[in-house]
Amino acid sequence: MMRLVVVSNRVTMPERGEKVAAGGLAVALRSALEKHGGLWFGWSGTTSAEPSSRVEPVRLGNVSYAVVDLTEAERQSYYLGFSNRALWPLMHYRLGLTDFDRSDYAGYLGVNRRFAKLLVPQLKPDDVIWIHDYHLIPLAAELRRRGVTNRIGYFHHIPWPSAEVFGALPFSATLISTMTAYDLVGMQTQTDADNLIGGLVALRGAHRDGERVKAGPRETVVRPFPIGIDVESFRKLAVASVRAATQPIRATTGPLGGRKLVIGVDRLDYSKGIVQRLEAFGQFLRSHPEHRGNVGLLQIAPPSRSDVPEYAELDRQSDEVAGRLNAALGEFDWTPIRVVKKAYSRSALAGFYRRAQVGLVTPMRDGMNLVAKEYIAAQNPEDPGVLVLSRFAGAAHQMGEALIVNPYDTHEVAEAIRTALAMPQSERVRRFERLYATIAASDIGWWTSRYLAALTGAEAADKLAPPEPPRKASGATRKPAARQRATTRPAAKKPAAKTAIQPAQAANDAALGEKRGSFGQRAGSKPLPNAASPR
Ligand code: F6P
Repeated sequence: MMRLVVVSNRVTMPERGEKVAAGGLAVALRSALEKHGGLWFGWSGTTSAEPSSRVEPVRLGNVSYAVVDLTEAERQSYYLGFSNRALWPLMHYRLGLTDFDRSDYAGYLGVNRRFAKLLVPQLKPDDVIWIHDYHLIPLAAELRRRGVTNRIGYFHHIPWPSAEVFGALPFSATLISTMTAYDLVGMQTQTDADNLIGGLVALRGAHRDGERVKAGPRETVVRPFPIGIDVESFRKLAVASVRAATQPIRATTGPLGGRKLVIGVDRLDYSKGIVQRLEAFGQFLRSHPEHRGNVGLLQIAPPSRSDVPEYAELDRQSDEVAGRLNAALGEFDWTPIRVVKKAYSRSALAGFYRRAQVGLVTPMRDGMNLVAKEYIAAQNPEDPGVLVLSRFAGAAHQMGEALIVNPYDTHEVAEAIRTALAMPQSERVRRFERLYATIAASDIGWWTSRYLAALTGAEAADKLAPPEPPRKASGATRKPAARQRATTRPAAKKPAAKTAIQPAQAANDAALGEKRGSFGQRAGSKPLPNAASPR
């Protein structure tokens, strides 16, 4: 009987009796784990003086949680340093912010090595291992080095840039090589999948055959699996939240009176385009003064990674821009922009989304962006709001009926806000119905089932090929495509979650070859501890 082992940087441990308030991914992973029985392994989120030398899983129902403390030095190098000052900006196409430090990279490899060491004794022969996100790229290679032959999958939640960009990272060839220790790599979009495969070819000399890539004995499948949300439960939350008019909603939207509401909800992160969004809202009010006093922007931005200097700077900058625009454009009885730097419950957020006439989701670059999907799930089908969505969010590949904008173009975003506020109800309903049908047909349950079916070999690969809708032309005033059958609650066909396991891969990846491409380590540079060095 298969057991699912999920590994992620953060583990959401439910307190006994706690109602699950966590986001889509945590909910989905937990329900997948509960369905199959399983283990969730990762960082506890806290630090301790001594590195954990063993883990003791805590069992809740048929799920065991095994968490590891990091030392403060590891948190600095692995999490804040290499993951969030090197990989995060690089993966979001922000080379100028990418800060590579050799000791951070060594710390990153060290934590991955320690995770592997602590995980191996927990593993059983039939386990299927599913590793999540950029903090843990070399983990499979470390597990293979320790003789693990189980099926191992990886899902990359953020964008993957082209080889030209990724290749700027020192040791990029070494790091990208470790991806070939996985059996299945899931990406958010076809573009990300092509970029990864292109990188393996350019930096590592891998051979590509469609979605299959080979750079040693193992063949790795790289395929898009656009992540979804639990649409139905989020919709119910929004209905219930508005009915109950929960306290945070009253407190935050009460002062708006009958005014219209434009909403943005993001972690306070430079990839989210928050400052650019505030400027665009200011531009909208300048260009269309008739809207002054009638509409407000509520930006919810819980602080994130505040120990990283670029995040502290963004914190300061967003206050400065909001203050400047409010001073210039506000009136004694109307504040155009409110930036609220705190986290709200899922239920309160669902209520805010439903109350807002416009959802402004304008990241400069984003793997998927689940706020876009949550905003749609929360709408009133009879009188829905309008989604304004960045073309650089993975969600734009699926959600072409939103008003698609270039977040670098302040004027275009400002005009999209105007178009959204003026959109007739019939068009809002038409767009909403299509968007809802899309997100419901590819919700989080579908994503989990489809990924696990592919990882376990339970379905023929071509049956699982993802239907990524063709990229549509951008433009805030674009007309919707030909009418499709629309329903607010489509009976979406979802693949069954078959989880029979293929015989475990016999080959160990010890032979994972090392071949530096032209973007590899500089000649004469000091070798670093290598996560996947050839044996
Ligand atoms: O999606 C990217 C991601 O790093 C997730 O792995 C994580 O859950 C989220 O952003 C929040 O980041 P952090 O754990 O650094 O607060």
